[in-house]
Amino acid sequence: MSRHDGFPRLLADEAAALIPHGSTIGFSGFTPAGAAKAVPHALARKARDLHARGEPFQIRVLTGASTGPDFDEALAQADAIAWRAPYQSSKTLRQKINTQTAKFVDMHLSHVPQMVEFGFFGKIDFAVVEAVDVTCDGRVYLSTSVGAAPSYLRHAEKVFIEINRHHSIRLSEMHDIAVLPKPPHRSPIGIHHPLSKIGTPFAIVDPAKIVGIIETDQPDNVAGFDAPDEFSQKIAGHVVRFLVDEMRLGRIPAEFLPLQSGVGNVANAVMAGLGQSPDVPPFMMYSEVFQDALLDLMVQGRLVGASTTSLTLSEEQIQRLYADMDFFAPRIVLRPQELSNNPGVVRRLGVIAINTVLEMDIYGCANSTHVTGTQIMNGVGGSGDFVRNGYLSILVAPSIAKRGKISAVVPMVTHVDHNEHSVQVLVTEQGLADLRGLGPMERAQRIIDQCAHPAYRDYLHQYIENAPMGHIRHDLSKCFEMHLNLLHHGSMLPGVTVG
Ligand code: COA
Repeated sequence: MSRHDGFPRLLADEAAALIPHGSTIGFSGFTPAGAAKAVPHALARKARDLHARGEPFQIRVLTGASTGPDFDEALAQADAIAWRAPYQSSKTLRQKINTQTAKFVDMHLSHVPQMVEFGFFGKIDFAVVEAVDVTCDGRVYLSTSVGAAPSYLRHAEKVFIEINRHHSIRLSEMHDIAVLPKPPHRSPIGIHHPLSKIGTPFAIVDPAKIVGIIETDQPDNVAGFDAPDEFSQKIAGHVVRFLVDEMRLGRIPAEFLPLQSGVGNVANAVMAGLGQSPDVPPFMMYSEVFQDALLDLMVQGRLVGASTTSLTLSEEQIQRLYADMDFFAPRIVLRPQELSNNPGVVRRLGVIAINTVLEMDIYGCANSTHVTGTQIMNGVGGSGDFVRNGYLSILVAPSIAKRGKISAVVPMVTHVDHNEHSVQVLVTEQGLADLRGLGPMERAQRIIDQCAHPAYRDYLHQYIENAPMGHIRHDLSKCFEMHLNLLHHGSMLPGVTVG
């Protein structure tokens, strides 16, 4: 007999049958970790069936962040998503967003729970949340992510809980769940250390709202990482050398500062590089994702503690974690994204933020989200929460994409996610540009010389020389010439290919 025996058991298709067209649903999930699994699939099946009969069926989808192929991709392929927030990384959904067949609100992830609390999204009809257990009095023990699930549980009118037996029941030992009160009733957040706990190990739901429990036994299906490529390794090398130098200069204290690192292979390579460096002391993370490389660093004693909102671990790594919860549970805290990404806490703790962008301009603005300013890739995610508030904000990207047809360093970015007031350090495999204390023209020289690929440096220098005088020199008739070349001729500088 388990603790959730007091609630009705439903099949996923029975739950989907109770969700009408046009519903707004808050799902658990931050990356594939902890995402609802069975109900999204059943909703995709329902959409296909109804569409085949000529009937409409689409939903409005809120999550913590991206999900995985089992969720966004399945729903998007079934044309079941009318509106989506706050982040996605699905190929099919991206196409629908870029052709205006699905609406997408690209948001700072720390804002999501409070916007739900403030009522900015209107009524939340349903919450569908994965958990390892739920009690009759409404304590919900979440699984591998927290994300925005506690807020969806509080605000949704009706709730479905997916109890996933695949996960360890001991995950609650890592959870620290608190929902911030609304202004003007907020107090300072008592997180003074990455491992401080201020909440409870469970989220709370009014048990009367629970329509049913759906039992599952499914892994999170997190993809493993490829071995870091040459570009990632070089970028990691520059970042590690920079941080070690900062420590030697006394600008990072000897005990080091907590790190935040974005998702993906470059971020994984940077973390592995920091872990291997004998000059970097054992360190902490205050981040939103806990990826594969971090588990190894924790076992080696290089990473001594981590605050996160999701355990985005491959199946092999999550099983390693479950097999040794006595070791890992005291070293990892899983919080709601409003706390893992909280700007005030990030600034208080002095988090060193390292995030990947698509392109950067010669004055230090960066575009993480929109290719040529129009085509969404994924979304800003949590990067803005950390870049704006980090002790040091470091943005990284390979200097070129598509075999050199695209330069990551451009005269003016076509979309601004991070502006020059927040960005302090830019890094490509070519080198590192430390922009602190530099005016626009010094920044431009440094970014071009240190970060741009050599094939693009002459063009960029020439661009500045020919631009009209000003505090920031721009030629408004030419600032997007490279992007227009890409759109019209398939390459930012016709004739340039690299490698
Ligand atoms: N213009 C056009 N396309 C570009 C480009 C540019 N300037 N730079 C990269 N690309 C393309 C790549 O060629 C690649 O295309 P492909 O999928 O067809 O191979 C794709 O964009 C992804 O680039 P990749 O080099 O593989 O980078 P990535 O997987 O590390 O992703 C971002 C880079 C920027 C898309 C990703 O980090 C992101 O979504 N960031 C925003 C959210 C974020 O920072 N979250 C973390 C907060 S904790």
